[in-house]
Amino acid sequence: MLLQLERYQREWQELEEEFQQLQETHKVYRQKLEELNNLQAACSSSIRKQKRKLKDLKYSLQRCKYKSSPEESDLVQRINTQIKDRQNVFFDMEAYLPKRNGFAYKDEYEKFKLYLTIILLLGAVACRFILHYRVTDEVFNFLLVWYYCTLTIRESILISNGSRIKGWWVSHHYVSTFLSGVMLTWPDGLMYQMFRNQFLAFSIFQSCVQFLQYYYQSGCLYRLRALGKRNHLDLTVEGFQSWMWRGLTFLLPFLFFGHFWQLYNAITLFELSRHTECKEWQVFVLALTFLLLFLGNFLTTLKVVHTKLQKNKDEMKKL
Ligand code: COA
Repeated sequence: MLLQLERYQREWQELEEEFQQLQETHKVYRQKLEELNNLQAACSSSIRKQKRKLKDLKYSLQRCKYKSSPEESDLVQRINTQIKDRQNVFFDMEAYLPKRNGFAYKDEYEKFKLYLTIILLLGAVACRFILHYRVTDEVFNFLLVWYYCTLTIRESILISNGSRIKGWWVSHHYVSTFLSGVMLTWPDGLMYQMFRNQFLAFSIFQSCVQFLQYYYQSGCLYRLRALGKRNHLDLTVEGFQSWMWRGLTFLLPFLFFGHFWQLYNAITLFELSRHTECKEWQVFVLALTFLLLFLGNFLTTLKVVHTKLQKNKDEMKKL
């Protein structure tokens, strides 16, 4: 018994020594981790600062270019090329830094849109076919206002993290917030009832298109991540390009149909605004807003497709 106890005591002492050693190592580890965290934060913040300043500089140079002589414009061109190279270096640096932003945040943004699209789809179907109450319509419109507000905030964060979301897509969500807000204040009455079903049917269609958009956009994101890239316009990998074009060709008819439905909503509302019983200001304002949405969405989508086609042609020429 005594022998056994002595053995246990020795074992305990050995463990104790190992433990002291472990404590020391852990202390060093924590110090190094803190140093690493500080270095990562310092690098990320300098990169962000540099990117912001480069963007401003690029903008100023662009303005300068129009008034400059041929030599000056050559210099501007050279600086611009160097700025582009610098941006690529930042991209490589960021690959070694923790991804607080970038892909992870974009992923979250796409998922947020998907979950809310499901909720909005259920809401629109319920309001259109089951619940014919003003109060449920108000809840639905309130949800829309909140959704678009949240999108605009999330998109500003995405832009400051390097996303290339076009100006219009962000403004589009501000305009949609405004539109849902006006819908929310539209009092119940003949005019409201005459437009209600058309609006809800449009909302159902829009949610379905949003599903397709989610599939396309998250597919792009997934493939870009697998290829370690951020920008698919800079990408010439054939597999990616052919996937993107297949996705776009499938998506575009639905998008254009949606745009023309927005135009149809605008026309219906313009007609309603001329109705003898129309007294609400909301009708005309909504008509203008739908028209603005149609123009913005349709023209920007055409521009996006044109830029992609142009880029594709340039790449083909280079090969
Ligand atoms: N909303 C939010 N972000 C958008 C967007 C939109 N409508 N369209 C493009 N983006 C983002 C992309 O995700 C990409 O972000 P990233 O830099 O973080 O990767 C960036 O903007 C640039 O995208 P781009 O290459 O120009 O286009 P794309 O191939 O991703 O998408 C379309 C092209 C046409 C499919 C897309 O713009 C679209 O769905 N537009 C139609 C929207 C619409 O009209 N909705 C109403 C339907 S009724």
